[in-house]
Amino acid sequence: MTDTTTPPRFSDVFDTEVAGRWSAPGRVNLIGEHTDYNDGFVLPFAIDRRTTVTVGRRDDRLLRVASSFEAGVHEMSLDDLDPASMSGWSAYALGIAWALSVARDRADSPSFAAAGGDLSTIDLSAVPGLDLFVESEVPVGAGLSSSAALECSVAVAFAELWALDVNRSALAAVGQLAENEAVGAPTGIMDQSASLLGRTDSGVFLDCRSLDADVVDLGFAAAGLEVLVVDTHVEHAHATGGYVERRTSCEKGAAALGVDSLRDLDADDLGRAEELLDDETFRRVRHVVTENQRVLDTVRTLRTDGPRAIGHLLDASHVSMRDDFEISVPELDLAVATAQATGAVGARMTGGGFGGSAIALVPTEARADVEAAILAAFAEAGHTAPTVFTVHAAEGARRDA
Ligand code: GLA
Repeated sequence: MTDTTTPPRFSDVFDTEVAGRWSAPGRVNLIGEHTDYNDGFVLPFAIDRRTTVTVGRRDDRLLRVASSFEAGVHEMSLDDLDPASMSGWSAYALGIAWALSVARDRADSPSFAAAGGDLSTIDLSAVPGLDLFVESEVPVGAGLSSSAALECSVAVAFAELWALDVNRSALAAVGQLAENEAVGAPTGIMDQSASLLGRTDSGVFLDCRSLDADVVDLGFAAAGLEVLVVDTHVEHAHATGGYVERRTSCEKGAAALGVDSLRDLDADDLGRAEELLDDETFRRVRHVVTENQRVLDTVRTLRTDGPRAIGHLLDASHVSMRDDFEISVPELDLAVATAQATGAVGARMTGGGFGGSAIALVPTEARADVEAAILAAFAEAGHTAPTVFTVHAAEGARRDA
């Protein structure tokens, strides 16, 4: 007898034997927003909210995908992987199989080339089908990369069960390819990198051009600090929304200034940029150029002076996103301003923007006051009540069982 009040489990849906369980985290971006697709720098960390996939090995070539959050089974043959016929949440999982199947042909693309490793050995022509059951603690639409958590949990499961010789940077590129072409969101490589490379109490300092990744000790707990996430419940729309427009503006700015990407500019180029570009494009360019510098400054400051010294960089990043890149919304601005006014060391919106979450770096003793003030400010402004919670920097994708 099935108890309809409890969500289904692997064995309620599939009759294959469980071969293992893998998980991958969502991420918070500490700083470095909209810099990844400009070949720039980012400093995200993996969070202690994970997506878990339980997998059974089949004796045919079918991939079957089910979840605890939606009824039904999505199914596709490994001999017939086609992004055009993937839809809904299962595209994130099935898209990984498709991206792995074409990785060899994409070896020259910037992400795969930078990731290195020998992609020629990735061959899915004889691997077994799998049953996948997905559960997730990463809120959807909160700007915390529930999509990357799903992609990366599935990617590490596939890599292990199919014995693929593929490094984690290449797996991040696989995740990005799935998101770009199976899901249809033209995102960069930050989220998958954070989910795959994250370490406890650490940030992932990533050069999105070379894909060189450095682990940076965040030291929040030792400094008596916590990261509060304020999920505004305002929904963002990457694929159709302003994300594409922002990306296009950046490409336009780079082309007009004669560089491959905005990564190739620094503060000294901004005078020339202002002369050459229309005001809007100039402000988009200025955000990316100054944000790259803020990432470098944040990494240096964390290493020399510790996390209490990075607040002004977080604050400045928010101003730049609000005024130059114009990706904030009133709810995010209110969360940030209220946190700053009630004792946060620093605060900013995080992720792609147009909704989602803000983060505030707060002394533990101020946490309750900051949260109460934010809830009160939202009520006063007539906004939907946000969800406020603490996150810790956690380990990246792994096998759990
Ligand atoms: C989304 C994308 C990332 C990145 C951020 C903005 O999260 O998935 O690739 O571009 O927006 O920094």
